[in-house]
Amino acid sequence: MKQKFIPLENFHLYSDKKMIEQSKSFVNLVSNRRSIRTFSSQPIPLEVIENAVKAAGTSPSGANMQPWFFAIVKDPEIKKAIRIEAEKEEKEFYTKRAPDEWLKTLKKFGTNDEKPFLEKAPYLIVVFERKFDKSAEGKTIKHYYTKESVGIATGILITALHHSGVATLTHTPSPMNFLNQILDRPANEKPFMIIVAGIPEKTTTVPNIARKKLEEIALIY
Ligand SMILES: Cc1cc2nc3c(=O)[nH]c(=O)nc-3n(C[C@H](O)[C@H](O)[C@H](O)COP(=O)(O)O)c2cc1C
Repeated sequence: MKQKFIPLENFHLYSDKKMIEQSKSFVNLVSNRRSIRTFSSQPIPLEVIENAVKAAGTSPSGANMQPWFFAIVKDPEIKKAIRIEAEKEEKEFYTKRAPDEWLKTLKKFGTNDEKPFLEKAPYLIVVFERKFDKSAEGKTIKHYYTKESVGIATGILITALHHSGVATLTHTPSPMNFLNQILDRPANEKPFMIIVAGIPEKTTTVPNIARKKLEEIALIY
């Protein structure tokens, strides 16, 4: 019979010095991550993407329900279909739906309704949030804290890709239900985000924006 509890393995007890070193080197690593919007078509190994998804799958989740699904898209025809539908939604957003205040905020990113990167980047990872599961008998299995869980998993995914030398863009055309049709995903899965993954175009520029300082985002109590 499967044991209910097993000894914790692989926890590394570091010295304070080593802990500080590790924490500093991680801050350096993630500080260099930027969202990019111009991707080259340079291919990257599928194994790298699969490993990043494996890493995302280690995320903590409410009651260990692991309420995520990652559609890894490399097929040019599927990428094209996603681009066409995303651009339709984005056109609606930029020309009709977006309130002026939102458009003003977006100005510094130079974004518009054209999303060529959806076809050009070698991979789109479409992250789905599984709202519930069904047992073999058709009974509904409830999921808990799905948004929080999938958010953490997506953070790990982005960080794992960055760690492997793959640049990303978090893309959220709204609404995104067209992704269920294109990718043939069931109704209990809600599109959460598209993570565009690849190598930056040589001429890539990024918005000159600042990150808040530690004192602005944390207080020691
Ligand atoms: C939930 C979420 C949704 C986002 N959606 C879009 C998007 O649809 N299009 C886009 O160009 N950038 C999008 N971004 C990227 C942000 O604009 C970007 O992360 C932010 O400006 C900070 O820049 P950095 O990622 O380079 O640090 C999104 C980011 C997040 C976290």
